[in-house]
Amino acid sequence: MPIHVVVGGFFGDEGKGKIVAFFSTKYKPTAAVRTGATNAGHTVVHNGVKWKLRAVPSAFVSKKTKLYIARGALIHLGVFFSEVEKLGVRNRVKVDYATGVILDEHIEREKKDNYLAREIGSTCTGVGIAMSDRVLRKLRLAKEYQELESFLTDTQAEVLEILESGGTVLVEATQGYWLSLYHGTYPYTTSRDTTASAALSEIGLGPRATSRVTVVFKAYVTRVGGGPLPGELPVEEAEKLGWIEYGTVTGRPRRVAPFNIELAVRAVRANTATDIAITKLDKVFPETYCTRRWGDLPSTAKKWIEEVEEKLGVPVSTIGTGDDTRCTIDRSEEVGL
Ligand code: GTP
Ligand code: MG
Repeated sequence: MPIHVVVGGFFGDEGKGKIVAFFSTKYKPTAAVRTGATNAGHTVVHNGVKWKLRAVPSAFVSKKTKLYIARGALIHLGVFFSEVEKLGVRNRVKVDYATGVILDEHIEREKKDNYLAREIGSTCTGVGIAMSDRVLRKLRLAKEYQELESFLTDTQAEVLEILESGGTVLVEATQGYWLSLYHGTYPYTTSRDTTASAALSEIGLGPRATSRVTVVFKAYVTRVGGGPLPGELPVEEAEKLGWIEYGTVTGRPRRVAPFNIELAVRAVRANTATDIAITKLDKVFPETYCTRRWGDLPSTAKKWIEEVEEKLGVPVSTIGTGDDTRCTIDRSEEVGL
């Protein structure tokens, strides 16, 4: 499995952090590459410990995996250094020479930008403004910062070498298909493309070495900020169902809707999914909490998963039944992956 891409299929926050962490402990990839920027927060709960990540790859839980931040990604130095120390990954995390750097000034400008901050519902982490500076060729890159010197490398060259010498690479995409700048609900989108192809492009990899693309869906749909959300539930109903969540980065309550097959079908096709991961099954079928075997699921939950599989035309390889990486049903081998 040379390249395995994990990508979101709805509006982000599908639980990619947990799925990536699970895959990384299972497959122990040689390298993992984080794409996207600090507006995407991932949560990993591993061995009972909760980690919140905005820069470092969620695959850090696999101790021998080399960690990379892609060339097309953006970091904020404060966020990066505090994470590196907290996670103790100083010796195995690398940043590309050309990774973009978000400054506090970008954050301030974004907060003051009424259109982005209020109308679009940006996370106000300076990402959109920094991306616009990048397009204008004004953004400063990682190689210009003395503090980053010991972390800098040509990530593309290193990853290509790893692949050529038979290693494996886990690619972590961010947000979700429907937040893509090109394919999502423009203008209510993020400031980059969020497809599997775009994640590869951020690293500088072509599509042919990719053997697996796992599209992650949550068992219901959430979105933060403005824009359409088909089937959106009133807050009280979402609360009653236990589906209300708060943003990892912003702390804002997320808008909620039931699982949407039409949105999922397009995300599967556009990402050329080989398989699907479904998280938070335990929030729809509470009796499934932390179930680890397919055979132990109640028939109602199995039937629901099988219906999704049939409609999407790809197997559900991985099922989340709780926030800890332990609480996962792994069907990869069973479905031929
Ligand atoms: P992405 O934004 O897609 O990367 O997902 P994320 O990892 O950022 O998810 P986020 O942290 O925004 O929210 C997901 C929350 O659900 C986190 O608190 C996770 O720990 C938790 N979670 C993930 N998978 C499961 C699951 O299968 N069941 C339950 N109960 N919680 C889960
Ligand atoms: Mg998130």
